Amino acid sequence: MESKIQTLNEKLQQANLGGGQARIDKQHAKKKLTARERVMYVLDEGSFEEIGALVTHRTKDFGMENQKFYGDGVVTGHGTIDGRLVYVFAQDFTVFGGSLSETHAEKICKIMDLAVKVGAPVIGLNDSGGARIQEGVRSLGGYADIFYRNVRASGVIPQISAIMGPCAGGAVYSPAMTDFTIMVENTSYMFVTGPNVVKTVTNEEISSEELGGASTHSSKSGVAHKTSSNDVECLEDVKTLLSYLPQNNRETPKAVPFDLNEEIREELASIVPENPNKPYDMHEVIEGIIDKDSFYEIHKDYAENIIVGFARLGGKSIGIVANQPMFLAGVLDVNSSKKAARFVRFCDCFNIPLLVLEDVPGFLPGTDQEWNGIIVHGAKLLYAFSEATVPRITVITRKAYGGAYDVMNSKHIGADMNFAWPSAEIAVMGAKGAAEIIFKKEIKSAEDKDAKWKEKEAEYAELFANPYSAAERGFVDEVILPKYTRRKLIKAFAMLDGKEVDRPKRKHGNIPL
Ligand code: HXC
Repeated sequence: MESKIQTLNEKLQQANLGGGQARIDKQHAKKKLTARERVMYVLDEGSFEEIGALVTHRTKDFGMENQKFYGDGVVTGHGTIDGRLVYVFAQDFTVFGGSLSETHAEKICKIMDLAVKVGAPVIGLNDSGGARIQEGVRSLGGYADIFYRNVRASGVIPQISAIMGPCAGGAVYSPAMTDFTIMVENTSYMFVTGPNVVKTVTNEEISSEELGGASTHSSKSGVAHKTSSNDVECLEDVKTLLSYLPQNNRETPKAVPFDLNEEIREELASIVPENPNKPYDMHEVIEGIIDKDSFYEIHKDYAENIIVGFARLGGKSIGIVANQPMFLAGVLDVNSSKKAARFVRFCDCFNIPLLVLEDVPGFLPGTDQEWNGIIVHGAKLLYAFSEATVPRITVITRKAYGGAYDVMNSKHIGADMNFAWPSAEIAVMGAKGAAEIIFKKEIKSAEDKDAKWKEKEAEYAELFANPYSAAERGFVDEVILPKYTRRKLIKAFAMLDGKEVDRPKRKHGNIPL
């Protein structure tokens, strides 16, 4: 028995070393942790249970039968984060560059299947040179097996991808179908075709970093939801993100202990400027409402005219969607509509109530927007709010104009509670533009055209640039003092705790993609 135990220990020791010490040193020299170090860091100490440590590939071509490494380039298993079960896979760049073979894919599929059966999140730590070139179509099949499972798990368990090295070619589509993608700055990149192919096809010269690095995907494409400056920060980000989420779609997120005090926030009354055309930072409103330091922003550098992220209110997770008057006056455009729609749908999948903070002057006009399909993309956000059955509350802080009023979680599309501050202006459009159109003749025939215009603008503003017309009709449930907003919201979300909505039977809706 002793010699048999020794054999097992030797094998496990080899598995622990992945592609060997020299390659581990190379990984460290690039300021990257190894797959195993990443798994140990992200999980609670001592909680990791490995599955498939002794798996090897089955390839015999190109002399591969003589090159076998236990684990075959991916560390898989389960453990806990903050005491909650998670499944994890970490690609091991020290073994064939973390490339994906048939058996490597089987290991990932095995833990994904378990995660769906049990109902716990999957965390994927990606660091791979793509398809195992020596395996050909078997590797492509392995990718497709993973993609298929990503879709089956979507909306059932949270799926989080951390990109901690290369992720190229078709491999990018697995992270793209997970719920959140976090990229490490300077050491990770994602693209469908790399710089060499780009140069051959389009003659553009571009570096990997510029084409598909963390800052490109967090600001230009929106592929990355968050970036981190190194491996450790990225793994911390994964842990923090998970703390806002439930284990699966049948549960609600874990609440944190909370003392009900400081509910009156006087500072909220002085954020919206007197002049309605002056910007202000909606982050200040968010901070004035939520539990201290609890905001976790998603897509911070992408489509900055809308803010989305998780926070806690009275100890409970909520999703926040808020127009940002600091950027493009907070208009809705193609990118902000897509960003917010995906976030709303995530929250709805996982029973996370939604809070909307609204200050929106309308949709962004122009050929760029129209030709890029603002009609269909704006419809995504309208659709996402309309179909969401989680508790939904809106607070109009200032402008709620035109179609954007309808879209931003209005009462008419199923919001449960709609509040407005006294500074709210709820109208078809701004008073200046409205006066120009409906009083065109009077203004034209007036002796002092400017004075007439101003007079009519004031008349329109008096009638509509306030929350009272909407409140009279019940489109706004209550006009509230800003300082009481936090208290009102805690009570309103508590009141909505038991919300249940029946939908007509159907296979699925047809969101305008
Ligand atoms: C097999 C691979 C590999 C791969 C890297 N290696 N990629 N082995 N299949 N795809 C091996 C290398 O031979 C090397 O082995 C080790 O991993 C480290 O690679 P290096 O090149 O030394 O590392 P580095 O200089 O850091 O460059 C990393 C890299 C480069 C940029 C990822 O290796 C690379 O370009 N690899 C090929 C990428 C690629 O074309 N993949 C296929 C894409 S198509 P040793 O023994 O020296 O340690 C695809 C389709 C997916 O993925 C479709 C899904 C639907």
